[in-house]
Amino acid sequence: MAFTLASKVALVTGAGRGIGRAIAEKLAGSGAAVMVNDLDPDPASATEAAIRDAGGRCTSLAGDVTHAKFPQQLVNATLEYFGGLDIIVNNAGYTWDNVIQKTSDEQFQAMLDIHIVAPFRILRAASTHIRESAKKEIAEGRRVMRKVVNITSIAGTDGNAGQVGYSSGKAGVIGLTRTLAKEWGRYNVNVNAVGFGLIQTRLTQPLTQEGASIEVQGRTIAVGVQPKVLDSVKALCPLGRAGTAEEAAGAVLFFCSPLSDYVTGEVLICGGGMHF
Ligand SMILES: NC(=O)c1ccc[n+]([C@@H]2O[C@H](COP(=O)([O-])OP(=O)(O)OC[C@H]3O[C@@H](n4cnc5c(N)ncnc54)[C@H](O)[C@@H]3O)[C@@H](O)[C@H]2O)c1
Repeated sequence: MAFTLASKVALVTGAGRGIGRAIAEKLAGSGAAVMVNDLDPDPASATEAAIRDAGGRCTSLAGDVTHAKFPQQLVNATLEYFGGLDIIVNNAGYTWDNVIQKTSDEQFQAMLDIHIVAPFRILRAASTHIRESAKKEIAEGRRVMRKVVNITSIAGTDGNAGQVGYSSGKAGVIGLTRTLAKEWGRYNVNVNAVGFGLIQTRLTQPLTQEGASIEVQGRTIAVGVQPKVLDSVKALCPLGRAGTAEEAAGAVLFFCSPLSDYVTGEVLICGGGMHF
């Protein structure tokens, strides 16, 4: 193995399914202890059980990262259970799409809440631990690198018609990423973003009447992509196919590993070469 994360503690939001679950499994497989969060308790427990069955160190805390007080509780629970926090992956997300004239204030705000406000609150909640740990390590002459990876999308970097709220949220998290890279460089934290193209998960399955939905803040929102859009996206992708959650997690693992110790404030697109 090119590296080990054996001394590291990671927190992954939205890790009950899809890309987040694959990230949590890859981090645990590389030796990290992992706090799994998801809105839905059963998928969160299933990820925890899979990691433990594979011999990994893991616990989980279900909860909604868009509730104002939950980010601090999640960070505190991670510190209490594992005694540290070295890697934060802000992955939880969903789509609530429409063109601008059909987008309500509530809908737009919900996309900002999940894609920028929640990552902001989680990172602010972790800032005391990160700064105090780094100051102590630096005083002892040790350089200990910590990692933040925020998940964005080519809808955020390129814009995408029909996703005004989602694209705005995913663009906003890049500003958060680049600013924290500048604020936290002195604490030896690499802060980067990974933007996905089309990855096969619940979020990108064909949108049908019997399709998937997400229950968040008392609302039920259909998630998925129009089948016609899916076909056209595949035609636009140089690699000619959607990616797997496993492939998506590989790009995130790079930013969580020592291989990226001298990379910060960057956005890596993992999309098979596709841009909108
Ligand atoms: N799949 C893609 O093609 C694609 C493309 C670009 C970006 N992304 C981003 O990747 C991330 C993962 O998406 P995915 O495709 O794996 O979707 P997914 O629906 O399979 O998994 C997302 C997980 O996040 C959880 N979640 C949603 N809201 C939450 C909340 N408020 N609190 C806690 N957990 C919450 C869900 O319960 C779900 O388990 C998202 O940020 C998404 O926007 C995905």
